[in-house]
Amino acid sequence: MQIFIDSADAAELKALAETGLVDGVTTNPSLVAKAGRDFFETLREICAAVPGPISAEVVAQDAKTMIAEGLKLRTVAENIVVKVPLTREGLIACKTLEDDGHPCNVTLCFSAVQALLAAKAGATFISPFLGRLDDGGQDGMELIREIRAIYDNYAYPTQILAASIRTGAHVRDAAIAGADCATIPPAVFKALYKHHLTDSGLEAFMKDWKATGQKIL
Ligand code: G3P
Repeated sequence: MQIFIDSADAAELKALAETGLVDGVTTNPSLVAKAGRDFFETLREICAAVPGPISAEVVAQDAKTMIAEGLKLRTVAENIVVKVPLTREGLIACKTLEDDGHPCNVTLCFSAVQALLAAKAGATFISPFLGRLDDGGQDGMELIREIRAIYDNYAYPTQILAASIRTGAHVRDAAIAGADCATIPPAVFKALYKHHLTDSGLEAFMKDWKATGQKIL
């Protein structure tokens, strides 16, 4: 599964990318507002730090302006993916941009039939929002399973990008359900490689090694 980071904090993304484990980045208008910096400057820095797909979201509500915004965003770097909302206009923009060779991530997906339409619009990525469904008392992971089944039934190449991830368990379950990618907040990503038994086990190994008095280098 590809690991994307859900953030617009260019400095933090650069540090996380140094692990070699980051395949891409997703941003959205709220994350850009939180970062508090110039959008285009931030995107340029992120695209330079992470070689994979970097989602940058349009803010227009009509297809024509979404397409114009998407084309402008695509001038920032080759790895920009245009993020459009799952609305009638967003799907029209997605189809037009994808037909012209510009990859799109259709965001704010909350149902399997929405995901079916995004695939028909030729989306490169579909972003179902797991956490927000869970917040509302629904089962976000069931949506991933439904989309996986539909896309496999018809061999749609649209990649399932599990979004609105809140926990490591979300990442695990999205991987089991067959999501192609998960976009993970920085704090959740940093927690993924932590386990208290790893820490205590390493401490014991180091204590025993020191007692041997030997060196490797
Ligand atoms: O970037 C889209 C998505 O991951 C947002 O997550 O936590 O705001 O529901 P959240």
